[in-house]
Amino acid sequence: MSLPNPTPSARAVVTGASSGIGEALAMDLASRGHSLILVARRGEVMESLAETLRAEHGVEVEVRACDLSDRDARAALVTEITGREISVLCNNAGIATFGPVADLDAAYERAQVELNAVAVHDLTLAVLPGMLKRKSGAILMVGSAAGNMPIPHNATYAATKAFVNTFSESLRGELKGSGVSVTLLAPGPVRTEEPDPADASIVDRLVPDFLWISSEYTAKVSLDGLAENKMRVVPGIISKAMSVAGQYSPRAVVAPIVGTFYKKLGS
Ligand SMILES: NC(=O)c1ccc[n+]([C@@H]2O[C@H](COP(=O)([O-])OP(=O)(O)OC[C@H]3O[C@@H](n4cnc5c(N)ncnc54)[C@H](OP(=O)(O)O)[C@@H]3O)[C@@H](O)[C@H]2O)c1
Repeated sequence: MSLPNPTPSARAVVTGASSGIGEALAMDLASRGHSLILVARRGEVMESLAETLRAEHGVEVEVRACDLSDRDARAALVTEITGREISVLCNNAGIATFGPVADLDAAYERAQVELNAVAVHDLTLAVLPGMLKRKSGAILMVGSAAGNMPIPHNATYAATKAFVNTFSESLRGELKGSGVSVTLLAPGPVRTEEPDPADASIVDRLVPDFLWISSEYTAKVSLDGLAENKMRVVPGIISKAMSVAGQYSPRAVVAPIVGTFYKKLGS
């Protein structure tokens, strides 16, 4: 199995564990018997999740409230996990912005690069030496179908996810036979919470309910994919369609079509 067996001393790290896909990954890992380190900014939300997971699954759950886009805050976490027995790393935390980069808040765009790309790189480099020494480890990289194509009006997000997608699949090639596996999750839209009908986004309004996939389903197929040592997990019909369009269509053709759709998201 490429997902290491849980042990009392090992920890699975999940970033972005306070909501959405990350929360679902934490719940699924705990149900598989893995003790956890939960990372996000909202410590109190994670403490409440930790309490539930300890009670329901009898696992150890540690909480680290950390702004991963802040280099100093991140450095402390990097130092800690470098010295810990980390069996699984789920690089999940991420944010997205919509609209022309020139009109968006520059500091927030930089924070997005730090969180979506640089933190992923930092945390991976922190756990790799220990995993390689133990000849055991599993890394789930949460990229996106958006990382397969140029997306005007979502430029910083698409570029950071292109980094994650390529880093994941490149690193995987380097680690073949090492006992450490890397799987990329590259989803399209995942419904992480029920939309308020009065305030539904254009994506919520355009995509019919049956085409949406849930955080719980996404977490399950991702961890199954990690256990099966899959290169890439692309859950759901929309994700698969976006993946094919992004990978096999000329980028010059795709960019203006996707850009028109994302322009509406930005407005
Ligand atoms: N949902 C989708 O449709 C979709 C599609 C493709 C890819 N993805 C990717 O899947 C991942 C999870 O997305 P999601 O939809 O589950 O998002 P979400 O519900 O908004 O969750 C994002 C998580 O990241 C954490 N986070 C945000 N900023 C952070 C920071 N500066 N430092 C530490 N943690 C931070 C948030 O916690 P705090 O606010 O407590 O910090 C939260 O736990 C992201 O990488 C996203 O790009 C999502």
